[in-house]
Amino acid sequence: MLCDAPARFGLPTAGLGGSAPRIVELGAGTGLVSLTLAQLLPGLGLARAALVATDYHSAVIANLRGNIAINSSAVGSAVCPVQACVLDWGVEEMDPAWPLGGERADVLFATDVIYAHEHAEMLGACASRLLAPDGVFWLLQTVRQNGRFGGVVGTVEGVFGKGGSTGRILRILESQRVEKPDRVGRGDEALYRLFKIGWSG
Ligand SMILES: C[S@@+](CC[C@H](N)C(=O)[O-])C[C@H]1O[C@@H](n2cnc3c(N)ncnc32)[C@H](O)[C@@H]1O
Repeated sequence: MLCDAPARFGLPTAGLGGSAPRIVELGAGTGLVSLTLAQLLPGLGLARAALVATDYHSAVIANLRGNIAINSSAVGSAVCPVQACVLDWGVEEMDPAWPLGGERADVLFATDVIYAHEHAEMLGACASRLLAPDGVFWLLQTVRQNGRFGGVVGTVEGVFGKGGSTGRILRILESQRVEKPDRVGRGDEALYRLFKIGWSG
């Protein structure tokens, strides 16, 4: 989706971070989203983007660093550097190696990170700490309607759709249903939902 239609994700970032946006992936796993952005952004005039791929699991981070190394050397054309860093959604204190210092992120990405009841709440708190005032959080939820994941489907709206608060809160600005193409994803994945989340109020 990023490569087919970057404009769907506001890329090149309209006003967000100028030509050097700070982009953070949450729960990056193998880092596919960050690695894709690393190859996509130079062609969109965003070669100076700061890309940080994060996860909380040490084995995942080790694998992520390996994937970054392979992908940054295997391609001849310009590639944005990707930094891997530990970030646990449930921990307020940042890792001492956090590469963005006190700067907030212009864009957050998170894909397939809602698979327990507490995840949306944790991601909401984490995004509140990280996202710049005009920033955008792109959250792609995998919908698994059957089995033990069925109950988490509405949790994103439960956290980011809340009204009645005073002050700025993170809200769903747009949501789209994304159909699952044939032969993509695992058998228990029914469809996907793409949320554009940002500050309102
Ligand atoms: C299902 S995987 C998705 C990985 C990747 N985003 C993708 O779409 O392929 C969920 C990821 O979230 C990470 N994760 C789970 N809980 C987390 C937390 N509290 N803080 C940071 N990452 C977490 C896991 O380690 C795992 O890599």
